[in-house]
Formats: sequence, C-alpha cells, structure tokens
Amino acid sequence: MLNLVLFGPPGAGKGTQSQKLIEKYGLIHLSTGDLLRIEKANRTPLGLEAQKLMDDGKLVPDAVVIGMISNKLDSNRQAVGFIFDGFPRTVVQAEALDRLLEEKNTAISGMIGLEVPDDELERRLLQRGKESGRPDDANPEVIRKRIKEYNDKTAPVAGFYKAQNKLENIDGTGTEEDVFAVICSIIDSWLKG
Ligand code: AP5
Ligand code: MG
Repeated sequence: MLNLVLFGPPGAGKGTQSQKLIEKYGLIHLSTGDLLRIEKANRTPLGLEAQKLMDDGKLVPDAVVIGMISNKLDSNRQAVGFIFDGFPRTVVQAEALDRLLEEKNTAISGMIGLEVPDDELERRLLQRGKESGRPDDANPEVIRKRIKEYNDKTAPVAGFYKAQNKLENIDGTGTEEDVFAVICSIIDSWLKG
C-alpha cells in the first residue's frame, strides 16, 4: 500500500494537491477537516461539538479525529492506499495512526511537508475566505490562531516522522503544478523502493 501523510500549515495546499494525487494514484483521500465539515453541515452531535472549536481556529480533541480515521480505514479495506490530509495533527494522533495501520499490516510510506511562509498562508486563506464560506477563513485573527495552533501542537509531528526517516520537506510556494511535479517525483521514488 501507498500511505502518504500530506503535511503543512493551514493554506499550505494539502487539499489542493490531494485532489490531483487521488486522480493520478487512485488513493483514498482522508481529510479530517473535510470529514468534520460534513458532520457540521449535517448538525450531528459530533459536528455540533466540533463547530465551536473549528470556527475558533482550535484543534478538536484527539479521540474525535482518531475515531473518524479508524472508521474510514475499516470501511475502505480494498484501498490501494490513503492520503492523510490534516491528520495526524498531534503526536498522540501520529502514534494512534501507526497502531491503526499496524493492525492492518501496513504502515505510513512517508510524509511530505509543504513549506510556505506565514504571510503567503494568510494571503491565500483570506482570498479563499471571500468565496469558500468557511468561517475560519473569514477573519485574519482566526487564521493567525490556526497558524499558532499549528506551530504549537502540529509542527512536532514532523519530528515524529523524521525519527522514522519518513519526512521529506518541499517548497510549497511554486504554482500548483510545480508543487505537484515535486510530490509525484518523491512518490515515484518510493514506489520504485
Ligand atoms: P482543515 O480543513 O484541515 O484546514 P487547515 O489545515 O486549517 O488548512 P486548509 O484546509 O485551509 O489548507 P490546505 O493545506 O488544505 O490548503 P488548500 O489546498 O485548501 O482543518 C480545519 C479545522 O478542523 C481545524 O482548524 C481543526 O479545528 C479541525 N481539525 C481538522 N483536522 C484535525 C485534526 N487532525 N485534529 C484536530 N482538529 C482537526 O489551499 C488553500 C488555498 O490556497 C486555496 O484557496 C488554494 O486554491 C490556494 N493554493 C493552494 N496551492 C496554491 C499554490 N501553489 N499557489 C497559490 N495558491 C495556492
Ligand atoms: Mg485542507
């Protein structure tokens, strides 16, 4: 299986690159942000619990997202592989993901980190906020809070995969096509083994 963690701060391009990658490699895209937004839109108990935290730019509890990912792994047993987008976002989540994959006799192939400076992240998210309807994109203060939450709680996840020799950081500031080409060359090198 090919199991990729696409990593990076809010607005780095994880979702954008995931859409291109699922077409090329036939992987299942698992974005905890997208899954949570569906729960929110359906006004499920989980969605209502998550809403306040998401709109405020804070992480939702580990147990919530780990449970969602576990369900998705179980319901996609025939998958050739997964792209994890926006998950794991804490070291606790990364440890849980390793255990879940081990139970399925597989593992993370590697993590690709998209590096983009904060001012460009803010620019991209404010721009998207004009059309996306995402409340967490509409307000510069919430965007900055998401970036701070990333630096405080999520950045250490890179060290977790680095210790396993699975981390590749790349420049995320080129065009979407530039970034895609670099990601594909890394994945192809993994596939060649
Ligand atoms: P989530 O949905 O994961 O949002 P995020 O990480 O804050 O980031 P984005 O989805 O906004 O960014 P992205 O990297 O996908 O960039 P995109 O491709 O869209 O999480 C939302 C919330 O849910 C969290 O705040 C938290 O509350 C909760 N949550 C989710 N997962 C969780 C977890 N595991 N644990 C706890 N809580 C969790 O691109 C952004 C914009 O830039 C787009 O408009 C795009 O068109 C543009 N763009 C992309 N690439 C380029 C490029 N190369 N050049 C120019 N523009 C570009
Ligand atoms: Mg996204």
